Amino acid sequence: MAGNEVHNFYAGPAKLPQPVLEQIQEEFLNFRGSGMSITEISHRSALFEEVLHDAITRVKRLLGFDDSHHVLFIQGGASQQFCMVPMNLSLPGKPVDYINTGVWSAKAIKEAQIQGKDVRVIATSEDKKFSYIPVDYTVDQDASYLHFTSNNTIMGTRWHKYPGGKGVPLVSDMSSDFMSHPIDVTPFGLIYAGAQKNIGPSGIAMVIIREDMLARVPDTLPTLLKYTTFHEHSSLFNTPPTFTIYVIDLVLRWLEETMGGLEQIEKINRQKASLIYDIIDKSEIYRGLADAGSRSLMNVTFRLPDSELEKRFLAEAQKHGFIGLKGHRSIGGCRVSIYNAVPLDSVKSLADFMEEFEKTSA
Ligand SMILES: Cc1ncc(COP(=O)(O)O)c(C=O)c1O
Repeated sequence: MAGNEVHNFYAGPAKLPQPVLEQIQEEFLNFRGSGMSITEISHRSALFEEVLHDAITRVKRLLGFDDSHHVLFIQGGASQQFCMVPMNLSLPGKPVDYINTGVWSAKAIKEAQIQGKDVRVIATSEDKKFSYIPVDYTVDQDASYLHFTSNNTIMGTRWHKYPGGKGVPLVSDMSSDFMSHPIDVTPFGLIYAGAQKNIGPSGIAMVIIREDMLARVPDTLPTLLKYTTFHEHSSLFNTPPTFTIYVIDLVLRWLEETMGGLEQIEKINRQKASLIYDIIDKSEIYRGLADAGSRSLMNVTFRLPDSELEKRFLAEAQKHGFIGLKGHRSIGGCRVSIYNAVPLDSVKSLADFMEEFEKTSA
């Protein structure tokens, strides 16, 4: 199949903006007149430093903050952050609070427990298979931080209104909805996001850390596990994944200059999500997995009445060029991941296909 015949709904790694892919191809052999590829130049060269600087500046401009927070690029993806967060940010003798909204939150909790931290899971939606976002919880006032997962990629739920920390710094895994809508970073001590959904290729996490959090980092940690190392060396302590950072920069540029920023992209994201939710809501065969009030704008999850029909739906969809619709292996069913780079037209085509499939399967 040619690229333009495929509608990519993978949950991550996921669709990148088409103009970004084209630009990568165009300048791959001769990066900005250097006669070399971006993959061949020193991470300490002016050319690469410009890319890194541009990416950081764009993140700050898109999210609207300045020197209150720092932008870091850290290898190891979001999972590495499950371990680095408690290691760096827990305060001696104080608990760390977590809210459990599914598989990714549970993994973050486990990493804090492995380190012997005083982990308090102050709320969980496990009783209803993580189909909702908890509303009742009390944050420990002496907690080092409150950790939550802003968007639950597997179940398809999201926090529509972030939890209030009442002064306790918020820490959030925003891997699957980072840069999909504006946020106020002020209450966040730290935000992290694996790049491979909304901002670039896999293997790296973008971390936004508030200035005051840096003072918490214990001297005794290994060098590459300290946020201060990445901050003090502008993410260049050792050789970073230069190609990945370059692609992230192009995606951010596309987001800012072509799509018009976070408010604009949020409007499109809402439009895309409602196309699919509207079909689910009026359907006799598609059953949404997330409670209506907790629905994700990035990952729409649903089931069909039986596994035979589900298989047929996925196979037919694939034949029509709709790729990546199988739900996560832990819950099965179907999942439509509609990150920033998935075009509205792809979602419209899928919505038409879903309607048609329902008619013909009756
Ligand atoms: C919300 C969330 N957190 C963490 C991860 C893990 O990311 P990584 O594979 O980069 O470690 C994922 C991956 O899908 C995710 O969706």
